[in-house]
Amino acid sequence: MSDAKIIDGKAFAAGLRERVAAEVARLLEDHGIKPCLTVILVGEDPASQVYVRNKGTQTEEAGMTSVTHRLDASTPEDELLTLIESLNNDPGCNGILVQLPLPDHIDESKVLAAIDPDKDVDGFHVINVGRLWTGQEALVPCTPYGCLLMLRDHFGGNLSGKRALVLGRSNIVGKPMAALLLGESCTVSIAHSRTQDLAERCREADILVAAVGRPEMVQGDWVKPGAVVIDVGINRVPAPEKGEGKTKLVGDVDFTAAAMNASAITPVPGGVGPMTIACLLRNTVVAACRQNGIDAPNI
Ligand code: GUN
Repeated sequence: MSDAKIIDGKAFAAGLRERVAAEVARLLEDHGIKPCLTVILVGEDPASQVYVRNKGTQTEEAGMTSVTHRLDASTPEDELLTLIESLNNDPGCNGILVQLPLPDHIDESKVLAAIDPDKDVDGFHVINVGRLWTGQEALVPCTPYGCLLMLRDHFGGNLSGKRALVLGRSNIVGKPMAALLLGESCTVSIAHSRTQDLAERCREADILVAAVGRPEMVQGDWVKPGAVVIDVGINRVPAPEKGEGKTKLVGDVDFTAAAMNASAITPVPGGVGPMTIACLLRNTVVAACRQNGIDAPNI
């Protein structure tokens, strides 16, 4: 029998969105500022279209202004860079997000480097990466920040001395997650597909963050008894038990087996996923405050 606590990311994200909305209302009342998030989507990738629509809806629900630029898949790189430059210079735009992936003819790193770091609500600009790793005030990538908020909540704000293992080394999740955990004084390891004795390394962790994009790779006996497991994976797999041709979403962790050992675990769906956009809204408010010389809320 498992008695692991299931960390409810949906409820947690709803709470964060409420706190963001309260800060937005305060900004408008006290300073006459209504933060604005601008999202740029190039092309018609179906998953990106859903994400961008959800970002727009949730931005408005939090009381902020949402602007979306939908550009044709054939848009030249120069044109995208010109749009970013104009948004950088527009004081009415507080946050800029270019939805990834971009079409092949556009150089992603060039585009990310063109965004004003103080409006880079994704936290992907190398300036923000450097600020994060050197402990300076940064805009931090949304998904790992969401994981950190859930971990802080679970541990009552004190992660100091915990052994954390981050499985995955992407720029969007693995690396910033490791930086954030180090900032909380965890002892941090980063593991990946080439790590030797991976199961053993995972078993040493008090905090295990899985972000490798491999369905149910982390087995139940890879989890140390009492560990907290954060599953960032969102993998669509066949689900013949639901009928022919049906699919389902699973994480990077074998949830049922891992829950037998973990003290707390995030489910998929309903764990980390809902936190990402909530943290994007939070970053937009923080960016708007900093751009206007106002103390950013601690949310
Ligand atoms: N595509 C998938 N996830 C993300 C994200 O967090 N930010 C951006 N800009 N694009 C994405």
